[in-house]
Amino acid sequence: MKDVLVIDLFAGPGGLGEGISSCTDESGNKPFKIGVSVERESSAHKTLTTRAFFRKIKDSEKARKDYYKYVRGSITRDELFLLHQEEAQSALAETLHEPRALGKDNELIHKRIHDLVKGHRGPRIVIGGPPCQAYSLAGRSRNAGIKNYKAEEDHRHFLYKEYLQVISIAQPEVFVMENVRGILSAKVDGEVMFPQILKDLRNPGLVTETDDVLGYKIYSLVVDADDPKDPQYINPSDFLIRSEFYGVPQARHRVILLGVRDDIDAIPTTLNKSDQYPISVESAIGDLPALRSGFSKKKDDVKDWESTISENAIRLNRILRISNDQELVEKLNLAPLSSLNRKATLHSNFQSATIPTPLKDWLLDKDLNYVLNHETRGHMADDLLRYAFCAAYALLNNGTSPKSRDFPNQLAPKHANWDSGTHADRFRVQSANKEATTVTSHISKDGHYFIHYDPRQCRSLTVREAARLQTFPDNYFFEGTRTQQYVQVGNAVPPFLAQQIGKVVMKLLGNY
Ligand SMILES: C[S@@+](CC[C@H](N)C(=O)[O-])C[C@H]1O[C@@H](n2cnc3c(N)ncnc32)[C@H](O)[C@@H]1O
Repeated sequence: MKDVLVIDLFAGPGGLGEGISSCTDESGNKPFKIGVSVERESSAHKTLTTRAFFRKIKDSEKARKDYYKYVRGSITRDELFLLHQEEAQSALAETLHEPRALGKDNELIHKRIHDLVKGHRGPRIVIGGPPCQAYSLAGRSRNAGIKNYKAEEDHRHFLYKEYLQVISIAQPEVFVMENVRGILSAKVDGEVMFPQILKDLRNPGLVTETDDVLGYKIYSLVVDADDPKDPQYINPSDFLIRSEFYGVPQARHRVILLGVRDDIDAIPTTLNKSDQYPISVESAIGDLPALRSGFSKKKDDVKDWESTISENAIRLNRILRISNDQELVEKLNLAPLSSLNRKATLHSNFQSATIPTPLKDWLLDKDLNYVLNHETRGHMADDLLRYAFCAAYALLNNGTSPKSRDFPNQLAPKHANWDSGTHADRFRVQSANKEATTVTSHISKDGHYFIHYDPRQCRSLTVREAARLQTFPDNYFFEGTRTQQYVQVGNAVPPFLAQQIGKVVMKLLGNY
């Protein structure tokens, strides 16, 4: 198959690009070549560039070893790039050398896209979704609290028009646009925006006032449509992809629109459901080294932590009233683990991973023998017992996370409206035997929704565990502070899902 030029917008850490560019055609070639990735946030941009570099060197054993040296911290990124200057320059060019913003740096971005399109003989695709804050349900409830907030003045609402601008310039055969579920119901001036968004995407040239831009048919990737051009046949919820049905260990529900240029005489297939539903959290992360949390707001000390956990185990036995039931005591096994670290680097246990294939092959890197971005954060001492309670409760209740009403009084946080119902879900354990709930960028804030299922570890998930649930390969290195890394992971499209989307696009372009 001919090479396909990929233009990656609002690229984040690069989940969508990673998955799509990994697709292999029948001859063993990888046809999707990322020409440009545009990202404005500096830590995500750094991650994106490091990964672009990795993709360029990964077939060379020697260069891979140098990359491992970098992610293990024994050489700097500058030293790595100096060792492989050509690939480093090419990776930097791919991500425009610096963080760039659509809307602000359009001259430079549009010129690059023009040049790429002019120099490429073969199909091209545009991928990526405008940021979701303005559409997202959470964003809306936050915005509702802002005095004089007017959705129509929030420029993020209209960032999708920047996307249309690029479509008008590149006129790709196909585009893949991702967004949060809230885009289906977002309103401006009381009017639901989604039908208008669809209308705009079908005719980008009209919006951008560009002549000779072909129109697009918009397809769902999960529901066959008879005539997708006719809005009557489109049910907005048909665009919702439930990632857990496609081999992702996480209930992530996102809107993905597949635009196919009007002159393409081929109809895309839909994604194949995986027969591995659900992939549990434990099978996805259980092989990663156990860790302890730290204390925030007081000096972190391992002995102090261990004695707190031992006291908590006794209190928990009392709270759960299990001490007389030997079977339950064994099931819970609250005996504290000793000598846990807050950070693990060696990944000696990966052979024990129970991740089902093909996800296992996708995630693990047997040459790395190292765990990246696997470090816990600190929690308030009071929260450690709550975390242990949540994890133990889920173990005793077939994976159900406790609601606030299930908390004993002595564990209730001092929250004026703890009992009001608005905080029913203040703490959530990611149960061992179920798929995870959506990994969002909120994980960067406090971790209460992302409690590890092991009551002895008393902590929220690490960046690496969140990355596993998002199906980022283990050798994907997240740059920036830990908070920034969490945001990047929470924002991304699961690369394993993206690969399946890439296969649909590859088949479509192959047929055409
Ligand atoms: C939902 S994330 C994208 C995730 C990405 N598709 C992936 O799979 O990893 C949206 C990204 O758009 C970036 N962004 C927001 N406004 C932007 C702009 N005007 N230009 C470029 N990037 C922007 C944000 O920093 C964020 O990283």
